[in-house]
Amino acid sequence: MNNFQFQNPTKIIFGKGQIAKLNDELPRDANILLLYGGGSIKRNGIYDQVISALGDRKVEEFGGIPANPEYAILMEALAVIKARDIDYILAVGGGSVIDGAKFLSAAALYEGDEPWDILTQNISTKKGMPFATVLTLPATGSEMNSGSVITRAETKEKLVMGGPGLFPTFSILDPEVIHSIPQRQLANGITDAFTHVLEQYMTYPTGAYLQDRLSESILQTLIEVAPKVLEDPTDYTAASNFMWSCTMALNGLISKGVPTDWAVHMMGHELTALYGIDHARTLAVIAPSHYTYNFEAKKEKLAQYGERVWNITAGTTEEKARAAIARTEEFFHELGIDTKLSQYTDDYEGTGEEVAKRFNERGWKGLGEHQTLQPADAEQIVKMAY
Ligand code: NZQ
Ligand code: ZN
Repeated sequence: MNNFQFQNPTKIIFGKGQIAKLNDELPRDANILLLYGGGSIKRNGIYDQVISALGDRKVEEFGGIPANPEYAILMEALAVIKARDIDYILAVGGGSVIDGAKFLSAAALYEGDEPWDILTQNISTKKGMPFATVLTLPATGSEMNSGSVITRAETKEKLVMGGPGLFPTFSILDPEVIHSIPQRQLANGITDAFTHVLEQYMTYPTGAYLQDRLSESILQTLIEVAPKVLEDPTDYTAASNFMWSCTMALNGLISKGVPTDWAVHMMGHELTALYGIDHARTLAVIAPSHYTYNFEAKKEKLAQYGERVWNITAGTTEEKARAAIARTEEFFHELGIDTKLSQYTDDYEGTGEEVAKRFNERGWKGLGEHQTLQPADAEQIVKMAY
């Protein structure tokens, strides 16, 4: 096991009816910006629960944060923060709204001229404006981590940012919010969380038995609840396990003391930036090719995953590892997720070259757990995913 430090300051308030706890947790005298997405919260009753819990606090609203939170729109929200002396942000939404709140938290206290530099210059935010979240869509884990992914349509970019100052103060996780989530987004959430675990697990053995088993248990739980959640989002047992699995998949715990990869996400983000494909679906497109391309480096963990998670017990290490990749792709298909780029766009020719070009321009080298994957390797992996 590698050396590590672990600190996660986000308070989690989990369960039915817990949105009302906003009233206990939010400072009385805060000047709050209530940030939300395209309006689902107004149709499913979450907005009403939030407003009722806020009581007579001073609240300014900003709705309209789109999926893949857009820089130009966030800059409008930043203007509201400055004009209205906002000192606390409350994000009510999925990963996009929460990531938007993180950007605003950083940008509100940023002293440079152009907040986009936070993303292009990899500026780590040590201190941000305080913010909290009410999670409406289990998927990203953003409710309990300090990372954020921001999109800029103008330049077709999707870049990551973060820092120790960007953990939510608290997050409210009420599994009943999933009642209103469309099937497509539920399938996305399962796929995203599943791939988050794989990115922190599918590397090479390091004798981190507990981390391996924590990861495998999250994968097994997601596999168990996936059909139940899709069939009946009002099944509270399934919903609560789904929601907590998504948070646990990316709150920092399972990556401690082990190597991580994240190359699937880095390539996937480019597919969203270029074609607008849902985040989770880009991961399902890239992951099988990535594991096949890097088979030699990953085969031992692939075989362990196949054996422990999918009960693939027959054959050599190589055979089990190959079967595990195939079973993973089949799982995505069972969720209704296509795993080839050509199923999302007719315009896929040249994508591998474009991704490699972008990685080169940004000076990105050494992706993957061994930091050995070059842009030319990313080009091949993306081409294998056509
Ligand atoms: O905008 P509204 O109207 O609210 O509708 C949303 C949106 O259209 C809808 N939705 C959310 N909760 C709902 C609901 N509809 C009905 N009932 C509810 N309770 O779902 C749609 C998608 O929402 P979004 O927030 O975009 O989805 P998700 O949570 O999957 O977030 C995706 C974003 O997170 C980033 C992705 O790149 C993407 O931009 N990620 C963030 C990470 C992080 N911060 O740690 C890690 C991830 O790997 C990921 O990259
Ligand atoms: Zn993800």
